[in-house]
Amino acid sequence: MPRRKVAAVILAAGLGTRMKSPLPKVLHELNGKPLVRYVTDTVHALGAERTVVVVSPATADGIREALRGLPVQFALQNEPKGTGDALKAAARRLRDFRGTVLVMSGDTPLIMPETLQRLLVVHARNREKLSMLSFTAGGAHAYGRIVRSGGRVAAIVEDRDADAEQKKITEVNSGVYALDASLLPALKELKLNRAKGEYYLTDLVGIAVKKGYPVGAHPLSTEEELTGVNTPEELYRAGRYLRERVLQRLVEKGVLFIDRASVFIHPSVEVGPGARIYPNVHLEGATVVGSGCVIYPNTRIVDSTLGAGVTVKDSTVIESSLVHDGASVGPFAHLRPGSVIGADAKIGNFVEVKKSVIGPGTKASHLSYLGDAEIGSEVNIGAGTITCNYDGAKKHTTVIGDGVFIGSDTQLVAPVTVGRGAYVGAGSTITKDVPADALALSRVPQQHLDGWALLRRTERVKPKRRGAPTTKKGGTVPRSG
Ligand code: UD1
Ligand code: CA
Repeated sequence: MPRRKVAAVILAAGLGTRMKSPLPKVLHELNGKPLVRYVTDTVHALGAERTVVVVSPATADGIREALRGLPVQFALQNEPKGTGDALKAAARRLRDFRGTVLVMSGDTPLIMPETLQRLLVVHARNREKLSMLSFTAGGAHAYGRIVRSGGRVAAIVEDRDADAEQKKITEVNSGVYALDASLLPALKELKLNRAKGEYYLTDLVGIAVKKGYPVGAHPLSTEEELTGVNTPEELYRAGRYLRERVLQRLVEKGVLFIDRASVFIHPSVEVGPGARIYPNVHLEGATVVGSGCVIYPNTRIVDSTLGAGVTVKDSTVIESSLVHDGASVGPFAHLRPGSVIGADAKIGNFVEVKKSVIGPGTKASHLSYLGDAEIGSEVNIGAGTITCNYDGAKKHTTVIGDGVFIGSDTQLVAPVTVGRGAYVGAGSTITKDVPADALALSRVPQQHLDGWALLRRTERVKPKRRGAPTTKKGGTVPRSG
């Protein structure tokens, strides 16, 4: 069936006072993303022709910022006079629009494009003037009740206006509607709800029914998906629903969890089949974890890509980095933004890497800082190696060629290059470029002071005798031959 044009309207001008927070409600975040952004992203995925977001003077700046770069129009509702009045503000922007208007709330973040699509299909198939998405609510709640008469929708009654009988109705309004644009002028007929001082969009249902228009409420989804966020408690609940949805999707794809209850994965994250995720792992943002990876406990990976078969050992942080196939990172490692770890490379215990490229097969197994470094393949970085990349004003680069061996406790004072195949002796401070295949040594040559220790011990034990050979107090010592 050829689809009719769809314009989406997102109501986001309410104050959200039940949130008890100075931040506008729809700007509260789930997984670092504002609620209203969930809704605009969903509408975008649906492919709406245009999107109008209704904002108020109090919410406009924050919402514009949160939606920066998205193809949306804004409509200003000057005073928060209710959802009906908010749609009126949007209708002024849709005067020339012919087609289906999809009305949603900015506080219903978990709705999925497939569900909206189903509503649009039913709306068109049933030739309804107004269709709404309903669901069955359990427990205590404040959703509007769908009142039916002989099975047909008669009206929506808001929780605060419902009598005892109406309160028992479990089919409730999700606040998502598909309506024909020709119904918008009927918004003029909404009456002010005196108790609340608002124009209820829900009253449009009764108006449409009275006019004899076909109106339908369709229970096409569940509370888990259609939950509205009005209070901190509901924000928390929405977060739990979202988390469970993400984990379920990954389990179905073949990801193995040891304890799902302790794992937090953003919806944007992809994990390949056969990956094993240990407890207390956080995968965030635009992260991709390849198939067969093993992520050990207490790890946070943000905006990073892991190839296939990567091992991330315990207590590791990886940020905005790329780790190629078969590499191993951790335990207690930190990959800071801009790091690239080559295939089968090893970044081990207490190693920090910042904005550095580590070649394939290279190993930095213990206690190192590698910053602004370009390190080739099959390099050995000894324990305690430090790139001294910062001179107090500027950052400088360290370049290490393929096959280099850096001895333990080396300081590489950047800018500096170690040529391919070179060796750097342990404990060196490298301030000049090292030619390929050379051995660089900068430590003080070792001396032996024969008998020094023995003498010192004897001196401590024996009482001083006049004329006996002795060292001067303060530690001047005999010279060795
Ligand atoms: C609304 C519905 C209720 C439904 C519930 C579903 C009405 C009167 N009630 O109630 O039937 O069960 O959603 O979640 O519509 N907004 C504005 N301008 C305003 C007031 C609100 O733009 O003047 C926006 C809000 O920012 C919010 C949305 O409209 O995103 C819904 O408003 P809200 O106050 O949350 O309505 P509910 O009481 O949840
Ligand atoms: Ca709401």
